[in-house]
Amino acid sequence: MMKLSLWLVSAALAAVASAAAPEARGSFDYAAHLGNLSPYRSAAVPSGMTTTLPDGCVVDQVMLAARHGSRYPLSSELTSITGLVQALGNATGAVAKARLPADLAFLKAGYTSTLGHDDLTAPGRLQLFQHGVEFALAYPHLRATGVLAGNQDRVLESAQWFAQGYFGRGWGAMNASAFATINEDHATVSWITPTGTCKKWDYNYGNNATIEWGSVYLPRIAKRLNKVVPGVGFTTDNVHGALYACAYDLAAHGVSPWCGAFTPAEIKDFEYELDLLMDGAFGYNLPTPMGAVLGGLYVQKLVERFTNETGTASPMYLEFGHDTTIDLALTALGLFADKPPLSASGPARASRKFRTSSQVPFAAKMVWERFACGAGGAPQIRLLLNDAPVPLAMCAKTDKRLGSCALADFVHANAASVEHGWGDARWNATCGM
Ligand SMILES: *[C@@H]1O[C@H](CO)[C@@H](O)[C@H](O)[C@H]1NC(C)=O
Ligand SMILES: *[C@@H]1O[C@H](CO)[C@@H](O)[C@H](O)[C@H]1NC(C)=O
Ligand SMILES: *[C@@H]1O[C@H](CO)[C@@H](O)[C@H](O)[C@H]1NC(C)=O
Ligand SMILES: *[C@@H]1O[C@H](CO)[C@@H](O)[C@H](O)[C@H]1NC(C)=O
Ligand SMILES: *[C@@H]1O[C@H](CO)[C@@H](O)[C@H](O)[C@H]1NC(C)=O
Repeated sequence: MMKLSLWLVSAALAAVASAAAPEARGSFDYAAHLGNLSPYRSAAVPSGMTTTLPDGCVVDQVMLAARHGSRYPLSSELTSITGLVQALGNATGAVAKARLPADLAFLKAGYTSTLGHDDLTAPGRLQLFQHGVEFALAYPHLRATGVLAGNQDRVLESAQWFAQGYFGRGWGAMNASAFATINEDHATVSWITPTGTCKKWDYNYGNNATIEWGSVYLPRIAKRLNKVVPGVGFTTDNVHGALYACAYDLAAHGVSPWCGAFTPAEIKDFEYELDLLMDGAFGYNLPTPMGAVLGGLYVQKLVERFTNETGTASPMYLEFGHDTTIDLALTALGLFADKPPLSASGPARASRKFRTSSQVPFAAKMVWERFACGAGGAPQIRLLLNDAPVPLAMCAKTDKRLGSCALADFVHANAASVEHGWGDARWNATCGM
């Protein structure tokens, strides 16, 4: 049974993957460079590291923070795609007569879009279902009793598909009370969406950076397209729409004619825009120490549960939120920090550490494990981000192969997050009261 269902899932995923194959231009893998709009895939295990715990080590507690799966564009992004469709629609005559390069020949037949907005897509459903099945197989000795989801449709639906994979079909109806939600608003203190209760937090910290970088890289793409496609007069917003069309056709349909219309360098410039957005609004480029203060709520929760001596902590927490949840937590932990910080005027350094493509793709999963090795072994903690171990470099002593460290060491190293919290002096000074 288990083998069969896994086979079905892999076959379905293979179908999605092969549908996406025509996007590859030479050996360039477009789907791996669409930033936080990339479809889920496991991250690469760093060389010299392993995901396999040594014999005799047993995981006794797990905390999952999963991002919702692939979704349609946000309404604001859909506007750029609609604008592109209109501009192309106005130029059908000129485009039909033109001699187009092979990568843009699809424009002869016209380009229209049926993309919705905001909600989970079919590949998004599959990503979360697969995560649920894999979780059940990875921790057969631990049983979750419920889920917690941010109260937004795509997050709720993601949690539901995960639960179907993990618990099975009957669970939802029988255990409605075990499906908990937490509001994503300005009144609810939440480690899943901490920005809501921080008055001074502003999306424009990231968005302004994307506008600045867009003014650097979008005009040169518009210039190139306008040279080879006559009559359209691509604006920079049309180019932005075409880049979104690549990412979101892929997110919704598993395939897009637009991806191959860009060079790998152009896609990498778009990828940098997405890194700048997330780093600026939910990461290290927020005014110091806002990112650490906001993400600290998650770290505090993690420690509260993993060190709980009252016997009230659950062995398994299954929680569903956003890329922002994960990026803020990473920021509080000091992981994937860039020195010097990412710059909105470029260049897009290939060596940068903050990488939304591998860290927070759709359906990203941040998995924390508490484990012990041998009888009476001290509790250890490790982080698997999209199935790859992340060295907990803030600890005094980190295991080189597992990336793990002693839980006590981790607590000590994250004292600022553990000791501070919502509404205290540090929070108020950072966020305003
Ligand atoms: C398309 O043509 C219509 C009618 O001429 C015009 O109003 C509209 O602005 C054009 N749209 C674009 C995106 O060029
Ligand atoms: C519902 O939850 C209870 C308590 O966690 C559990 O014992 C029971 O097995 C669950 N039912 C299903 C169908 O999973
Ligand atoms: C974003 O840019 C606008 C226009 O330049 C500016 O007024 C605003 O203060 C900026 N916001 C942030 C958070 O940097
Ligand atoms: C953990 O312990 C504290 C008391 O130290 C308690 O208030 C809290 O509710 C416990 N449970 C969890 C799940 O953190
Ligand atoms: C922070 O602000 C809140 C809301 O105004 C207030 O209740 C709280 O006492 C403040 N905390 C400190 C430490 O001043």
